[in-house]
Amino acid sequence: MRRWTVRAWRGLDVDEVDEPVPGPGQVRLRMRAASLNYRDLLMWRGHYDRRVLPYVPLSDGCGVVDALGAGVTDVAVGDRVVATFSPTWLAGGPDRDAVRKTRGGPVDGVLADAVVVGASEVVRVPERLSDAAAATLPCAGLTAWSALQLAGIGPGHTVLTLGTGGVSLFAVQLAQRLGARVIATTSSPAKASRLRELGASEVIDYTADADWGRTARTLAGDGVDAVVEVGGAGTLAQSLKAVRVGGTVALIGVLGGTEQPLDVLPILMSQIRVQGVFVGSREGLVELCRVLDAPGLEPVVDRVFPVEQAPEALDWLAAGRHVGKVCLAW
Ligand SMILES: NC(=O)c1ccc[n+]([C@@H]2O[C@H](COP(=O)([O-])OP(=O)(O)OC[C@H]3O[C@@H](n4cnc5c(N)ncnc54)[C@H](OP(=O)(O)O)[C@@H]3O)[C@@H](O)[C@H]2O)c1
Repeated sequence: MRRWTVRAWRGLDVDEVDEPVPGPGQVRLRMRAASLNYRDLLMWRGHYDRRVLPYVPLSDGCGVVDALGAGVTDVAVGDRVVATFSPTWLAGGPDRDAVRKTRGGPVDGVLADAVVVGASEVVRVPERLSDAAAATLPCAGLTAWSALQLAGIGPGHTVLTLGTGGVSLFAVQLAQRLGARVIATTSSPAKASRLRELGASEVIDYTADADWGRTARTLAGDGVDAVVEVGGAGTLAQSLKAVRVGGTVALIGVLGGTEQPLDVLPILMSQIRVQGVFVGSREGLVELCRVLDAPGLEPVVDRVFPVEQAPEALDWLAAGRHVGKVCLAW
């Protein structure tokens, strides 16, 4: 079988290796689809964890169980599953291992014809989802879900999302599923139409409105209940303008950088909660799959590349023209 390994930054070697055999408590997945995250791109370019080489990339994949190790009773051959992002994080809040030992580096990822993982590291996916759609859940889907849960989003709330990447589009869709209204930002009229189709009530073009945070605040009445913040340092000051007194900025991403001078006064004067979000636990992924069992929410898959074109898919993600998730199929 084939397994892809990153041995040098921006390199991707494909090797012929023996099929892995599941040990006690483990299962083998025959991979069917994977999805790419911005983190995979940062990792591949050497901008994330420079100690990670060599590693098997990609955290998110959907496969079918085709072999069981001794003692596995709660997973069956034929189950279609995704592997969790943090293999040891089962429930509750994260510990050190949950945030350090993550799949797709340093723990080997899913870019192989078959992978062996612990039986506790897989979650069955809704039957109605395609393999590619299911492969978007472990990181992007779960992160958006965790952010909305940590912000306590429910009926009548208003959520601000930033851009049309994987996490943000899940946030647009899941916030509505929770009964909230969505205001979204983006960079082009075409992407704005897509956001409206997905149910965003108002869309702000941040390339035309530099004070988009204040605009969102006004549109919401007197501030949004939560911002799903994927821009990081480059957008945080505007997000703090958008959020209501006592609201939450769920800090997820770094698309706009990690460092900027910041006026902290709004945080304390408006008692804003700046809540870091790190993907989520297995328990969260199970909940998300339960939510997606019901029809009506289709993960947005931008494009599916054949697995052999993984480098082209990473380049496509880097170009930033995608809307939603970039996937690979076996
Ligand atoms: N903390 C966690 O657990 C966690 C989990 C998943 C992802 N992340 C992070 O969250 C961020 C988003 O990840 P993703 O996978 O959803 O990314 P993605 O799919 O690559 O999203 C890219 C999109 O975001 C928008 N964008 C780009 N630069 C922006 C900026 N400076 N300000 C606002 N929007 C910008 C653009 O959409 P428009 O053209 O529509 O604006 C772009 O197409 C990344 O930083 C990623 O590392 C963190």
